[in-house]
Amino acid sequence: MKLPLAVTVSPKNPGRYQQEARARAAEWGLTYFERAMKSPLEPMLEELADVFLVLGGDGWTVHDAKGSLFFSPGMAQVRLRRLAGTAQDEDTILRLCELKAGDSLVDCTLGLAADAIVCASVVGPTGRVLGIEASMPLAIIAREGLRALAANIEVRHGLADDVLRTLEPGSFDCVIIDPMFDEPNRASVQFETLRRFAVHEPLTHETVRLAQRVARRWVVVKGGRRGAELTRLGLPRIAVRRASPLQWARLPGGA
Ligand SMILES: C[S@@+](CC[C@H](N)C(=O)[O-])C[C@H]1O[C@@H](n2cnc3c(N)ncnc32)[C@H](O)[C@@H]1O
Repeated sequence: MKLPLAVTVSPKNPGRYQQEARARAAEWGLTYFERAMKSPLEPMLEELADVFLVLGGDGWTVHDAKGSLFFSPGMAQVRLRRLAGTAQDEDTILRLCELKAGDSLVDCTLGLAADAIVCASVVGPTGRVLGIEASMPLAIIAREGLRALAANIEVRHGLADDVLRTLEPGSFDCVIIDPMFDEPNRASVQFETLRRFAVHEPLTHETVRLAQRVARRWVVVKGGRRGAELTRLGLPRIAVRRASPLQWARLPGGA
C-alpha cells in the first residue's frame, strides 16, 4: 500500500546520507527507502509514497509529484532587514504583541517559521519561542532548518489545540495564530507550494479560547485579506496601518 509520507536520500551522493536518513526516519516513525545514485524520485512517488522527505547536501527537502519545498528563512530575513534601524512598530505582529526581549511566545501555526524567526529575534536568548505545526513534513523541515540556523525556536508537531492543552495557564506572554486562508492572497511560489503540504483546518473558537488561557498578555490572529476567518468567528478587528494588506484581531490573554 502506498504510504502518505516516507524518507529517502538525494541521488547525488546517496551513500553519504543513508545512515542519517535511516536513523531520522526511525525516530519520526516513518519508512526509509534506499535510493540508487542518479535514480529519479518520480517512480518512488508513483509507487511508494505520496510525499518524500529527502536528505541531501542542502539538508531536508519535501517532495511530491508536483514539486518540492525547502526551508528558507528568506521572508523573515527581508522583514528583519526592514526592521534594522527602524522602530519595531513597523512589523504588525511585533507591534500587536508588544514584544520585547525576554518575552515568551507560542506560534500556533508555524509553517516555515517566518513569523517565529522575527519574534525570536526580538525576544532574544533570554526569551522563548515555541512553534506548533500540524503538518508532519512541514514540522520536520522547519525543525531541521531552524536547527541549522541555530534559531532559538522549539518546534512541536501536532494540532495547536492539543499542544495548547498541555501548557499551563498564563505560561507565555503572547500566542499568535496564522491559519491557512483559502484565498489567493500570498501569491509567492513558496507559499503556494507550502499550501500543498499544509493542514487546512479552519480556525475554531476552541483554539482561540485555549490560546487566551495560555497567554498572559495578547492573542494575535491574522485574518487574511478579507478577514473572513475573523468574521466567521466573530473576532473584533483591530485597526492597523492602512498599508497592511491583512485583517487582524487582538484579544487579551488570561481568559
Ligand atoms: C499560513 S501558514 C503559517 C505561516 C507562518 N505564520 C509563517 O510565518 O511562515 C499556516 C500553517 O499552520 C499549519 N496549521 C493549520 N492548522 C493547524 C493547527 N490546527 N495546528 C497547528 N498547525 C496548523 C499549516 O499546516 C500551515 O503550515
